Amino acid sequence: MTADAGLPDTLRDLPAWTPDARELADLELVLAGAYRPLTGFLGSFDTAMVIAGGRLADGTPWPVPVTLAVPKELTGQERVVLQDPEGVPLAVLRVGEAWQDPTTQGWRLAGSLEALRSPAHGPFHGLRRRPDEVEAVAGPVLAVATREFLHRKQLGQLRQVAERLGAHVLVLPMLTGEHDESLVRALLGVRRELPEGTRIIPVPLPDRGDDPERDVLLHAHIAAAYGATHLLADREIEGSAIPVVVPEPWAYDADVEVWRPVARIEPDHVQAELTPERLGELLDAGEPVPDWFTPPAVAAELALARPPKHSRGITVFFTGLSGSGKSTVARGLADALVERGGRTVTLLDGDVVRRMLSAGLTFSRADRDANIRRIGFVAAEITRHGGVAICAPIAPYAATRAEVRRMVSVSGDFVLVHVATPLEECERRDRKGLYAKARAGLIPEFTGISDPYEAPEDADLTLDTSRMTPDEAVGRVLEVLVDGGWVRPQ
Ligand code: ADX
Repeated sequence: MTADAGLPDTLRDLPAWTPDARELADLELVLAGAYRPLTGFLGSFDTAMVIAGGRLADGTPWPVPVTLAVPKELTGQERVVLQDPEGVPLAVLRVGEAWQDPTTQGWRLAGSLEALRSPAHGPFHGLRRRPDEVEAVAGPVLAVATREFLHRKQLGQLRQVAERLGAHVLVLPMLTGEHDESLVRALLGVRRELPEGTRIIPVPLPDRGDDPERDVLLHAHIAAAYGATHLLADREIEGSAIPVVVPEPWAYDADVEVWRPVARIEPDHVQAELTPERLGELLDAGEPVPDWFTPPAVAAELALARPPKHSRGITVFFTGLSGSGKSTVARGLADALVERGGRTVTLLDGDVVRRMLSAGLTFSRADRDANIRRIGFVAAEITRHGGVAICAPIAPYAATRAEVRRMVSVSGDFVLVHVATPLEECERRDRKGLYAKARAGLIPEFTGISDPYEAPEDADLTLDTSRMTPDEAVGRVLEVLVDGGWVRPQ
């Protein structure tokens, strides 16, 4: 855990640690001055006060805990180098306090940060600005901090409020690590619909996802640091760093075919909103998103971020005991998809992966988890590129399967197939003679015999190959894929 690349000699011997994505975003915002008055990660007292009452121990309003989780081994250190996932050192943390989170018992380090270099990663890096790099403008500045695409309604509301305040507009797209490029490109694509002189500055801010009010308060802090005087948001809030402005409700006037305030539309001319569900359905089916709803540039980005199902990446993950028939069905599915055409298919069979990707791993819990995570990593990449990944390991642990589902779902779809052939049948088949050896005690930790198998409760399909032919089993999986829209019917 020692950082060595490009560090000054005096720091070379310090231990190094790679914070997670949210902590790295916090680190970047602290160093940029966007989290002022914070200068580092919070200690136990500040954190408790923030959670309880939205204030630091000294009474300064601050809405969310900004903490750094570390392994226990690091808690005795005075200074720690914090690095990005590629190992590039970003900052030195001067440890003020090592403390234990009262709910999770996890260790935290608090202390001030000293920048080594500014983080330089991610798309649209050229648009990023520290608050002190943003030229001040005279008069009010209206900020909008968003993880969502701005459609015609939001664009109209933004223009209306900006006009009313006589404000410049500052759009802060919040980067979460998921579809960030689409969000920023969509905003750049509607520049002409935004008021003259609008500035767009991406801010790394993964969703904390627990408390929308605190989120708005945090956005107000960041917006204020960037020179905003007002924040546009969907809820009024007390005690924000700058006033929050909630736009009046808008709707589409079907009579004159424009979006405008509901108050100015004849009630029977108000067109029903395109709900997020309906929008999702249109995108899934590859149908055009209507122009009345969003500008074409945004529609194009929506379609890229959520491609039609028949060309969206998907992982079909088989799980089941050794000898349950996973490989046979997985291979049959791969062949059937290749024969149908229109899809690129990669088969990651358990035994094959064990010889290649996971050579050297044992069947201990830790190694099985490592094996499944590797499969998950590759499957997620295949899925991200619009392919079909078919995986067929035993994958005995529910938590690890859930982890793979999460990894894949960031950029595509995931279908879990439980090949639930009973143990007796797998053992009767004993194609590789392994069950006999396991029973004789020659193979330790054998799944189903001397090692656990956690049957999934979240399977999208369950197959018992003792009750059907391999062709039938493949047919059942294909049915799920066709019904779900991932594969076109023949
Ligand atoms: S997993 O648990 O990590 O998902 P994986 O699917 O890669 O397992 O490998 C399972 C295959 O390894 C089995 O089909 C079997 O041929 C072989 N194997 C060897 N030792 C064991 C064991 N102790 N438990 C299960 N399978 C084993």
